Amino acid sequence: DMLQVNWNVSLVLPADVLTRVSEYVPEIVEFVRKIVSNGYGYVSNGSVYFDTQRFDTSPQHSYGKLVPEAVGDQKALQEGEGDLSISADRLSEKKSQNDFALWKASKPGEPSWDSPWGKGRPGWHIECSAMAGSILGESMDIHGGGFDLRFPHHDNELAQSEAFFQNDCWVRYFLHTGHLTIAGCKMSKSLKNFITIKDALAKNTARQLRLAFLMHSWKDTLDYSANTMESAVQYEKFMNEFFLNVKDVLRAPSDLTGRFEKWEAEEAELNSSFYDRKWAVHLALCDNMDTRSAMEEMRLLVGLSNSYIAGRKSAKLRPNRLLLESIASYLTAMLKIFGAIEGSDPIGFPVGGQAVDLESTVMPYLAVLSDFREDVRKIAREQKGEVTQLFKTESVSGQPTVVKLVDKETLLREREEKKKMEEEKKRKKEEAARKKQEQEMAKLAKMKVPPCEMFRSETDKYSRFDETGFPTHDAEGKELSKGQAKKLRKLFEAQEKLHSEYLQMNGN
Ligand SMILES: *[C@@H]1O[C@H](CO)[C@@H](O)[C@H](O)[C@H]1NC(C)=O
Ligand SMILES: *[C@@H]1O[C@H](CO)[C@@H](O)[C@H](O)[C@H]1NC(C)=O
Ligand SMILES: [Zn+2]
Repeated sequence: DMLQVNWNVSLVLPADVLTRVSEYVPEIVEFVRKIVSNGYGYVSNGSVYFDTQRFDTSPQHSYGKLVPEAVGDQKALQEGEGDLSISADRLSEKKSQNDFALWKASKPGEPSWDSPWGKGRPGWHIECSAMAGSILGESMDIHGGGFDLRFPHHDNELAQSEAFFQNDCWVRYFLHTGHLTIAGCKMSKSLKNFITIKDALAKNTARQLRLAFLMHSWKDTLDYSANTMESAVQYEKFMNEFFLNVKDVLRAPSDLTGRFEKWEAEEAELNSSFYDRKWAVHLALCDNMDTRSAMEEMRLLVGLSNSYIAGRKSAKLRPNRLLLESIASYLTAMLKIFGAIEGSDPIGFPVGGQAVDLESTVMPYLAVLSDFREDVRKIAREQKGEVTQLFKTESVSGQPTVVKLVDKETLLREREEKKKMEEEKKRKKEEAARKKQEQEMAKLAKMKVPPCEMFRSETDKYSRFDETGFPTHDAEGKELSKGQAKKLRKLFEAQEKLHSEYLQMNGN
């Protein structure tokens, strides 16, 4: 068992505290001693047992709060107690069949610790109570564990802790996770169908495993199979391609003017889908942390964004960058919360599959570089000779920075290339300015149109209009749906605004 205390919102974080039972024996002995002195435990033949009847009949407590129907299930209880309860003489040590060991007398040859009751060892359940109690105190909000630990382990843990702290709220919520099965069978050593995390990581990345877990409800059985992993791999691929596409859209041109883009109906539609899907993700997570549905909603959002990008590209139009950036950033942030993206890149999976720590990757080279530069200067000063080798750093985006020694010819040739590139850049800038002017002319032409006339010419789409020129029926004479009308109303209102700006510009 391990004790895990997470303060962050991320679902996958390393534990802050990891404890070993063997280091908590003094706390365990003290825990048992106090349960006995509170009246809920008794010593019998060198062992100490929990008095379930005494506990259950006390007005402050009740036994078996988690799985009341399992109380008295001797098979479950004996599995929990291990060999101690199996022999008949040991059974007779207990006042009631339902009592469980807090401390077990050790047989010769068994590991043992000294205690007020002789040499012995902790009962199974007590270790969790003593370790968690000594770190978290008299109550905790959430206690995790596998579904199979509910009874007797967690019910007994609850009872003995509440007997120790004399309260009724040691744990506020238990989260019991579903089992992991391997190709449909429960993982077990005897069936030889268990797989270690190390084995699993040899087949798939940590991210793919996390995606597989996220694509299932945490409380249901998860079957680890080739199929399960294939879905996770496909999901990762689908997301990754989207991130790369968005990065590509965002790359050129990198100046700020490229971000001022008109919103057409397509953008408004994608924006509203974006908000809908985001809300659906929120609701799914509020519903008992349903990551499976959340992941599906995220996949839907990528599908919608992909169709939008494809639509714009086939119309030879550039997709809206800010909008796609928002969507990709949102998806990245969610995957970070889920622990499926590490690092601090605002968009996408880290390049190279692993987070690149700039500080530790680049700094050693920069340090060497600056020392080297100092040396070169020193030599040049001392020898007053000509330094014929120069050095430069090269940085290609997405690739490690390289430091190269180059001769003069290479350097001159590279300067020439740089000059050419600058000229090309200038030409592109001029072209962009020309395009911008064209766009402004087009915008002005659009502004001139009064809203009452904007739809009237579109007789291929609409057949009837109201007195304001707003369409009411489509080309086939069918009345427009509320949704359609709402979309058009947005366009209509946008045109009203544009046109009034135009009228103001021209002094009305
Ligand atoms: C007491 O424990 C010993 C082993 O530690 C066992 O041999 C003996 O039978 C037990 N006595 C009773 C009365 O259960
Ligand atoms: C995007 O959609 C949301 C929700 O419908 C809305 O609140 C927001 O104003 C929209 N953004 C733009 C720029 O239209
Ligand atoms: Zn435990």
